[in-house]
Amino acid sequence: MNYPLSLYQSADCAEVSRFLNSNWEYDSITEAILTEKLEGDPHWMPEATLVCRDGDRIIGFMQGVMRLIRGVNYAYIKLMAVDESYRRKGIATAMYKQLEELFRQKEADVVRIYDVPLNYFMPGIDPRYTPALCWAMRRGFERFGDTSNLLVDLNQNWNMQQREDELQREGVEVRRAKPSDKQAVLDFIKDEWLLWTNEVEMAFKDEQPSIHIALMNGQVKAFSAHNANNKGTGWFGPMGTHPDLRGKGMGAILLKRCLNDMKEMGLSHSVIPWVGPIDFYSWHANARVQRVFWRFEKKLN
Ligand SMILES: CC(C)(COP(=O)(O)OP(=O)(O)OC[C@H]1O[C@@H](n2cnc3c(N)ncnc32)[C@H](O)[C@@H]1OP(=O)(O)O)[C@@H](O)C(=O)NCCC(=O)NCCS
Repeated sequence: MNYPLSLYQSADCAEVSRFLNSNWEYDSITEAILTEKLEGDPHWMPEATLVCRDGDRIIGFMQGVMRLIRGVNYAYIKLMAVDESYRRKGIATAMYKQLEELFRQKEADVVRIYDVPLNYFMPGIDPRYTPALCWAMRRGFERFGDTSNLLVDLNQNWNMQQREDELQREGVEVRRAKPSDKQAVLDFIKDEWLLWTNEVEMAFKDEQPSIHIALMNGQVKAFSAHNANNKGTGWFGPMGTHPDLRGKGMGAILLKRCLNDMKEMGLSHSVIPWVGPIDFYSWHANARVQRVFWRFEKKLN
């Protein structure tokens, strides 16, 4: 492989997004979302974000990132592509080798592909990218599971006022979060769902927070968010209900509040990513499996 690798610079953003859009068959990315995936990652690793060039032209891109989750040091390839006319020349392999060396230096336990909690583009490899599957298997990755993105047609009635009124009489208040509720929501997730902190913060960045909450005795006991990852694409989640409020239909109410927001934003569809309980979303929102993703990992030690 005779093409030099260098570190991504923010001035490369427009060219990298054009490059990705012309070399990904099933995805597209805006400059804003690319920036969200790169500098917008709370653990952004510029030293692990590589560009490969032939002269001035970008012909390869690979972003690595790491997360320490419950004592496991995970490394990830978050985004990757090689120009169609430069494939099978070892370019992806050369970029990956450089990343793996860095991950080993940083004592990563395992490397995964695409399914990066907190800030990700897609939750695994869409198997229609068959060369990517072959590449991953040849590089020593093993498939350990799969997941799906569901699609919801937003042109439905999402009103749950009657059930919300009943809950109000039982002492449960459901409403959109205000900017001043941010700390209470962060406190609510900190024990069980700390990994969602970044997404909750992203949802609070919107002028009208893209977050709905349920309160009992003034305490946050459930929430749902949207526009917290891949902003502007109709991305739903995360959502969580405390055991005290389970079994009251809270999940459906909070889900539908977010879907209604997206409908009012003028979106035609919402994506419910990286699922999880397909039956719940199918029942309450007539969600359909839109894409399937295979998850791969390689143990480093
Ligand atoms: C996946 C991808 C990045 C691989 O890039 P690449 O530079 O062509 O990969 P390499 O040259 O390093 O391939 C190394 C090995 O992987 C395997 N491989 C790669 N492409 C393959 C294919 N189409 N069929 C079978 N094996 C393949 C081969 O074993 C290859 O070695 P060989 O050519 O000596 O047989 C590239 O195909 C790509 O950009 N695809 C579209 C984008 C994409 O799928 N991104 C990931 C989405 S989740």
